[in-house]
Amino acid sequence: MRDLLNVESLTISYRTRDHLVTALLEVSLTLAQGEILGIIGESGCGKSTFSSVIGKLLGPAGVVENGHITFGGKDVLSFSGQELRSYRANDIAYVFQDPMNTLDPTKTIGAQFRRLISASAWRQKAIEALAHVGLTDWRRVLPSYPHQLSGGMAQRAVIAMALIRKPRLLIADEPTAALDASIRCSVMDLLTAWCAEIGSAMIIISHDIPVISNYCDRIGVMYAGRFVEIAPAEDFIVGPRHPYAMALLASEPGQEGEDAVLQSLEGSPPPSISRAPGCAFADRCIYRTAPCSAGFPPLVACGSSKVACIRLGDIHGEAAS
Ligand SMILES: Nc1ncnc2c1ncn2[C@@H]1O[C@H](COP(=O)(O)OP(=O)(O)OP(=O)(O)O)[C@@H](O)[C@H]1O
Ligand SMILES: [Mg+2]
Repeated sequence: MRDLLNVESLTISYRTRDHLVTALLEVSLTLAQGEILGIIGESGCGKSTFSSVIGKLLGPAGVVENGHITFGGKDVLSFSGQELRSYRANDIAYVFQDPMNTLDPTKTIGAQFRRLISASAWRQKAIEALAHVGLTDWRRVLPSYPHQLSGGMAQRAVIAMALIRKPRLLIADEPTAALDASIRCSVMDLLTAWCAEIGSAMIIISHDIPVISNYCDRIGVMYAGRFVEIAPAEDFIVGPRHPYAMALLASEPGQEGEDAVLQSLEGSPPPSISRAPGCAFADRCIYRTAPCSAGFPPLVACGSSKVACIRLGDIHGEAAS
């Protein structure tokens, strides 16, 4: 499969009143056309920063200190004006956690579709898109304002608006976190099915590891501004390699051992992302040794995965290559 997205050595920080806060550190990743990548990791590790910089949506405080992003071979960070508008309108689309923050509260759903599709056949296209996400009652939905829809209906409308123009990449940042548990799977089903139909790649950010492992081809685990493991989903779910990923999975409900006690991950992530050399997880890691604090562990191949840990050989009894 050809690469669609290529992120190389990306370092991003946010300007605050008196200093820079690091959010991503030397992050590299490729995404193939049509591939579904899931990203997991504790709050503050940089997931949303990573997803927003792909659309050049960092906001005025965001600073790209280093690195490149190419999309279909084009340099995203150099986009501006019409080129940036066209990229955001045609190549990528976003679905965020809260549909009410995405939709314009002052306009009906119909008016918001109309703004997206300039063609005279906008109404028919909107009706078809709504049917695609299970909203067949378009006579009610199109004239409704967002607050007149349930959260699930509003998120379906957002998905329809995101996919109607057949983007090459859909970025879903916790797309089901604000929805009732009962409809999360159906929303994920329709998102992934529609993306597969149009050949769109996807990046799904979620705290829900079972969801991520069900729907994704690969899983990227972030910790303190870096990917510490990137692995095929089916391998990850049966045997994560990085100690943080192992601890994260072991703390998932359903992973209780014979004593029926769920393991918790001791400690908390660093309050701010440090650039000091050494593995950021070392303080919480049961496998740490003195060299763990010496330098940044690079992502190295380990079976079908890439893992950033210098203790892999000792932990798993195999040498990383
Ligand atoms: N606008 C901002 N100004 C200053 N710091 C920011 C800003 N946005 C994010 N950060 C900081 O950047 C780091 C990464 O934040 P980010 O929102 O990307 O994390 P996240 O993994 O998406 O977290 P969550 O799971 O809570 O959504 C955090 O330390 C956060 O406090
Ligand atoms: Mg986030």
